[in-house]
Amino acid sequence: MNLQSPMIIVNFKTYLESTGKRALELAKLAEKVAKETGVCIVVAPQAVDLVKIAQAVEIPVFAQHIDPIKPGNSTGHILLEAVKEAGVVGTLINHSERQLRLIDIDVTIALCREQGLISCVCANNPLVSTAVAALKPDITSMEPPELIGTGISVSKAKPEIITDTVRLVAQVNSEMTLLCGAGISTAEDVSIALKLGTQGVLVASGIVKAKDPYGVLRAFAEAINSTKSA
Ligand code: G3P
Repeated sequence: MNLQSPMIIVNFKTYLESTGKRALELAKLAEKVAKETGVCIVVAPQAVDLVKIAQAVEIPVFAQHIDPIKPGNSTGHILLEAVKEAGVVGTLINHSERQLRLIDIDVTIALCREQGLISCVCANNPLVSTAVAALKPDITSMEPPELIGTGISVSKAKPEIITDTVRLVAQVNSEMTLLCGAGISTAEDVSIALKLGTQGVLVASGIVKAKDPYGVLRAFAEAINSTKSA
């Protein structure tokens, strides 16, 4: 499956606001915004909610992590084939809250490529993003950990690391989709991220913990449409 760019990936993390029934409600809101605006919106619920949500919505669903394993005796791990059978179409890899060794990132990307799952690797700065790009994932999302969850957006606080990442990654892998994240909380943050050269954003608290998640996500999607057509 190919995703349309630009895109918004909503990482549900493990917030209570995006767990269980509330995760399903949030996923349906994301689907509503996607259908109303035509913008590609992906949701990434926690593992236990994946099956229910992948079967309930028509927008792409990602896992937050899968383990670099083959089928067999790996108790307590998350198997790619299991999430794929559940209807999941991609996965985050190496999120700063679920970091992997370089060899595991490489193996996980290769497993995704073999099995047709979209790989979205998270990286904490421009140089790591460039190293990740060399492993040829489908998507890389650059997110400075110190801004995650702060509401202080990378777009406004550190635009230079976005432009550095765009420039460096293009030298290594011009095919890959590049997103950014951390603190993204307004439509302007989304618009700036696109104008700086990314193809979208990876966001969590700005949507999940918003008083009006639908309103915020709708504003993000409209920012994408207006930036695209500018
Ligand atoms: O996966 C995206 C996430 O790490 C960013 O978090 O809450 O700053 O949007 P947040």
